[in-house]
Amino acid sequence: MAAEATGEWRGWRAAAEAALYGPDGFYRRPEGPAGHFRTSVHASPLFAGAVARLLCRVDEALGRPDALDLVDMAAGRGELVTGVLAALPAEVAARTRAYAVELAGRPETLDHRIEWLPEPPPRVTGLLFANEWLDNVPLEVVEVDSAGVPRLVLVRRDGTERLGEPVAGAEAEWLARWWPPARAAEGMRAEIGLPRDEAWAGAVSAVGRGLAVAVDYAHTATTRPPFGTLTGFREGRETAPVPDGSCDITAHVALDACALPGARLLSQRDALRTLGITGARPSLELATTRPAEYVRALATAGEAAELTATGGLGDFGWLVQSVGIPDVLAD
Ligand SMILES: C[S@@+](CC[C@H](N)C(=O)[O-])C[C@H]1O[C@@H](n2cnc3c(N)ncnc32)[C@H](O)[C@@H]1O
Repeated sequence: MAAEATGEWRGWRAAAEAALYGPDGFYRRPEGPAGHFRTSVHASPLFAGAVARLLCRVDEALGRPDALDLVDMAAGRGELVTGVLAALPAEVAARTRAYAVELAGRPETLDHRIEWLPEPPPRVTGLLFANEWLDNVPLEVVEVDSAGVPRLVLVRRDGTERLGEPVAGAEAEWLARWWPPARAAEGMRAEIGLPRDEAWAGAVSAVGRGLAVAVDYAHTATTRPPFGTLTGFREGRETAPVPDGSCDITAHVALDACALPGARLLSQRDALRTLGITGARPSLELATTRPAEYVRALATAGEAAELTATGGLGDFGWLVQSVGIPDVLAD
């Protein structure tokens, strides 16, 4: 009988894989990710505008090819790629081949110019952009037992947990290399990012020339949280992570471990500033001379502030990997 039916104990990786992407998985639901949480893509069209400007920089660096690829990796319902196409100058849009890579089905009303694929097209010449993908790549969770040994955390469909075997092999090596504090004290937890490293390396390998960017809530070697970050989301609220298909299951991303040689890691705040989003308020003088424009500018400034907020989206990491082109996000 299937593990889902029996409530069998499994590692978090297999449990979350089934809960998110199985036939009745959370990401198969009709409402899509936007029904449960807000990413930068949903927070403001300014985000798609910034990605459009990034694509234009990549286009310049590539020497304005006849066909410029834009890959929205883990596209949700295709909201980002749709917004980027709308924000591009007409001449660039006309040369752009737009792809949405997604495990869920194609929305019926999606722009016909966007090709919907289950994995990235080969030999991308352009930009592959993955917003909040890697945090949803399932991984194992480990906890240090009373003898100081990190053990796999096993979970049942109802979310109850117990400790399993000591972590071994490539997972133990990853832990020692990237999350050594997990060895420290009983009860400490870590999330083994190996499947994310592999997923990101696979996505980058699809880029023949251009840029790959992964954006996610992240931690690095000096900021790993001692008890991990595994959590759930449902209808806009954070919940306990229960692997029964009823909620999102997510954990922050060790983006430093995902980084391939030559990659650069910067905050969303810094990346968006480079792309022209600062969150600066309009001048008060505008309020008296052109009030309608002032109100519009104020709303835009509010959205920019959300995208760049300390303690919020601005702290997200941008892992930037140039492939055969110069760094187009340099100040
Ligand atoms: C948190 S949502 C992000 C959606 C969108 N990028 C955004 O920022 O609003 C994560 C999405 O990743 C998709 N996903 C997860 N693994 C994937 C994979 N290997 N290939 C394509 N899509 C994937 C899920 O189906 C889900 O729609």
